[in-house]
Amino acid sequence: MEQLKSKVASADGKLAVLLPGMGAVATTFIAGVEAVKAGLGKPIGSLTQMAHVRLGRRSEKRWAMIKDLVPLARLEDLVFGGWDPIPDDAYTAAAKAKVLSPEHLAHLKPSLSQIRPMAAVFDKNVVKRLEGANVKKGTRRELANQLIQDIRGFMDRSKCTRAVMVWCASTEAYQEAGPEHQSIAAFEKALDADHPNIYPSQLYAYAAIMNGVPYLNGAPNMSCDFPALVELAEKRGVAIGGKDFKTGQTLMKTIIAPGLKARMLGMEGWFSTNILGNRDGEVLDDPANFKTKEVSKLSVLEQILEPERYPELYRNLQHKVSIHYYKPRGDNKEGWDNIDIVGWMGYPMQIKVNFLCRDSILAAPIVLDLALFGDLAARAGMKGIQEWLSFYFKSPQHAASVYPEHDLFVQKVRLENNLRYLVGEELLNYLGSDYTNE
Ligand SMILES: NC(=O)c1ccc[n+]([C@@H]2O[C@H](COP(=O)([O-])OP(=O)(O)OC[C@H]3O[C@@H](n4cnc5c(N)ncnc54)[C@H](O)[C@@H]3O)[C@@H](O)[C@H]2O)c1
Repeated sequence: MEQLKSKVASADGKLAVLLPGMGAVATTFIAGVEAVKAGLGKPIGSLTQMAHVRLGRRSEKRWAMIKDLVPLARLEDLVFGGWDPIPDDAYTAAAKAKVLSPEHLAHLKPSLSQIRPMAAVFDKNVVKRLEGANVKKGTRRELANQLIQDIRGFMDRSKCTRAVMVWCASTEAYQEAGPEHQSIAAFEKALDADHPNIYPSQLYAYAAIMNGVPYLNGAPNMSCDFPALVELAEKRGVAIGGKDFKTGQTLMKTIIAPGLKARMLGMEGWFSTNILGNRDGEVLDDPANFKTKEVSKLSVLEQILEPERYPELYRNLQHKVSIHYYKPRGDNKEGWDNIDIVGWMGYPMQIKVNFLCRDSILAAPIVLDLALFGDLAARAGMKGIQEWLSFYFKSPQHAASVYPEHDLFVQKVRLENNLRYLVGEELLNYLGSDYTNE
């Protein structure tokens, strides 16, 4: 075990956590880490900070905390940076986002107010409902080069040995991969030609990969999930992953649907609607941006329920998802789900879920885990798409040859097995025959 463990480079030195988008999610994440460091809060929702993994056979009664099992960066070694077209420092942005209480934020003001966003690569055509003056100028090639310099400059100034980037910016307008996204050569050519189909998030992803920095996408827009950047990540040996943090309604869907399917209960419909009033909700109120989110949310049930394999149970499933921007609620989203299920002899039943959640409170621990696992992947020499991180995403990025895995519990086994594998521990298959035969 020790021998294998040494194959993962140690986590010594500081880690730059670079966040394009310093709004509600990013500032709740940063504030939370600072609060944990100061003993003012617990990192609830974070596997890297709280979860244990079982090791060996059940009879061995061996468990380890993930952070003790694999070498992860310590919270004390994280240095936060980022970009935003809105020039607010992290304290001001967090105060405006109103996720954390003023009393809570007051304690964190000294550290948060030091964090100021770098000028962003921003395109109003891609996110219409946003204004901001803290924006870079130049052609797409020049902008990409500026981002590459920003990353290097930040790492130098803050004396970081490594960096990881997690996209926490607004959801960009819906886009399908075009010819310019099909290969590195086509993408580079499009950069030189300042092609409008290269969206800002793709420039951040490109800059990260070119610097050898792992890139994880927390929003549903196409960012590193197209052939050109997958190829680039492979070639340069960089870990990438995405997309769309799995929080709120979709988290509930991937908890409930696998259970119903496991018991071979049928389903005729799943109606989801929610209200939220934060800036994310305002951006998603534009149909082009909502389309991006809708595609990401809709894909989940199909894959879990497999209607083609179980036509009697799921052939007629109607899945509807809507989001309503409703200002009074701010970040405290309320979601309603009505699930029409079918039991023995075709008798119908209904399940109602009314989830009063807090979007950024659910997303913040995901940002932390993705940053730490992204950095772990880099030190373990893992390159390209990191499917073992599917656990955290609504639309897990996957190899072209396979379908994405949406079932939260399969995703969890995969994540844990990946960690066991990295340190030479036996992989769990839950067969259990060794005990029965003993
Ligand atoms: N909170 C959740 O539960 C959750 C779940 C899944 C996905 N997401 C996604 O995470 C992202 C962040 O959510 P949020 O609630 O923090 O939104 P937010 O509006 O509070 O913050 C987004 C920030 O990104 C900035 N931004 C926009 N374009 C940018 C660019 N090109 N470069 C740099 N910054 C840019 C905005 O100015 C804003 O400050 C959204 O895309 C959202 O859809 C959130």
